[in-house]
Amino acid sequence: MDRSCGMGLPMPMLLLLLLLLLLALSCPAGALENGLARTPPMGWLHWERFLCQIDCNQEPRRCISEQLFMQMADLMVSDGWRDVGYQYLCIDDCWMAPTRDKQGRLQPDPNRFPSGIRKLADYIHSKGLKLGIYADVGNKTCAGFPGSRGYYDLDADTFAGWGVDLLKFDGCNFGTLELLAEGYKNMSHALNKTGRDIVFSCEWPLYERPFQKPNYTEIKQYCNYWRNYADVYDAWGSVKNILDWTSYNQDSIVDAAGPGGWNDPDMLVIGNFGLSWDQQVTQLALWAIMAAPLLMSNDLRQISSQAKALLQNKEVIAINQDPLGKQGYRITKESNFELWERPLSGGAFAIAVLNRQEIGGPQAFVFSTAFLGNGLACNPACSIQQILPTSVDLGLHNWVSPLKVVVNPTGTVLLKTVVTEEKLFDNGNKHFPEFF
Ligand code: GLA
Repeated sequence: MDRSCGMGLPMPMLLLLLLLLLLALSCPAGALENGLARTPPMGWLHWERFLCQIDCNQEPRRCISEQLFMQMADLMVSDGWRDVGYQYLCIDDCWMAPTRDKQGRLQPDPNRFPSGIRKLADYIHSKGLKLGIYADVGNKTCAGFPGSRGYYDLDADTFAGWGVDLLKFDGCNFGTLELLAEGYKNMSHALNKTGRDIVFSCEWPLYERPFQKPNYTEIKQYCNYWRNYADVYDAWGSVKNILDWTSYNQDSIVDAAGPGGWNDPDMLVIGNFGLSWDQQVTQLALWAIMAAPLLMSNDLRQISSQAKALLQNKEVIAINQDPLGKQGYRITKESNFELWERPLSGGAFAIAVLNRQEIGGPQAFVFSTAFLGNGLACNPACSIQQILPTSVDLGLHNWVSPLKVVVNPTGTVLLKTVVTEEKLFDNGNKHFPEFF
C-alpha cells in the first residue's frame, strides 16, 4: 500500500515533519541560542575595584592598562582561579581612546594599551583564558568614551577581529526606549554575524525599567545575561539592596533564567574592603542560589587567603554552575531570617539561611525539611551537607525532620540536600543533628 501521499515520503515521516513544523511555529523562542553561557559565566571584571583610573603616571599599579590585565591573567592561572572555573578576564569602561580612528573604528588608549587589544587577547588566550571587553549601546559610554550607536556592525567586527570572547554592552546615553531596544537587538545580531563565539552581556532591562516593564522573553532571545538593578558597591548595604530587589521581583525574573541566559545581580566584591567575613559568605552563597554570573571585581595581587578560599570553594561553584540551570528564590522571610532555595539536578536542592539581624550574636533558626522543595527535597529522606561557612556533614533526615542552623549576624548558612530512597525508622532521632 502506498502511504507516501505521492511525495516520496512515508506517512509517519510526513506526520513527524508536520509536527516539528507546528512546534517550531507555536513555541515561544527560548534563550539566545548562540551555544554560549550554558552555565553562568565566571571570571573577573575590573569595574568595581579599579573604576576609571586612567592616570598611569600617578597610579601605575591601579590604572586601566594592558599591564593590569596581563598581571591578572598571570594570577588567574598561577593562583588556581582558572582551574576552578574563572575563565573570562573582562575589561570594563575607560579602555578606549577618546575618539575613533580614521576608519571609524574603536581604538584603545595608545598609552595604556600600547600593544593593542589583539595582542592582549593573544596573551590571555595563551593562558587558557578568555577576554571580555566593554562598549555602550548609545552615543557615549557611561564614562564618556565613544559609544557604538551607528557602528554596531563595525564594532562587532572589530571585537571579533581582535579575538574578543565576551562583550559587556552598557546602556548609558541610550536616547529613546526604541533606540535602546533596537541597539541591543542590532548588536546581538552583529555579534552573531561575525561567526565568532562572543558572550553578550546586556544592561537593557536596567535602563528600561524606570520607564516600562522589561519583556524578559524578548531580552533573553538577544542576551546571554542581563543586569536588572543598580551597580554593586563594596558595602553590605549594596549587597542587601540587590538581594531585596531580587526577592521582591522574583516572580518576574526567576523563570527568565536558564542555560544560555541569566539574571546578573552584578560583580562579586569579595576580597575587597567593605564586607565582613560573614557578609562575603552571604554574597557568594546567594549569588550561587541566584545562578548569577560569578564575576569577581577585586585585586588578585592582594587578596586574603580566606577570601580566596571562599571564592574558590568547589562545592559552592558546583551549585552556581549546576547544569539544570534553574535560578533559586526566597521561600520565606521570618522575622530576621530569610530562607532561600535553588533546585539542582538530580532532585537535589541548595538551601540558604540568611540572618538579616545586625545586632547581637549568632542566632538559631529551626525549620522543617517539609518546607524544602515543596515537600519533595527530603521525601522520603535526604542527606544534608553544610557547605558554608564551613563544611559539615549533617547526616540523613526524613521529610519532616526539624533542622536547626545557627547563623551569624548578616551571615548565611548554605546547605545542600540530596534526596535518598533510604527511609528512616520512626524514632529517627538517631539521624538528627547532634544539637537535638
Ligand atoms: C555603568 C555600569 C557599570 C560600569 C560603569 C562603567 O554604571 O552599570 O557596571 O560598567 O557603567 O562606566
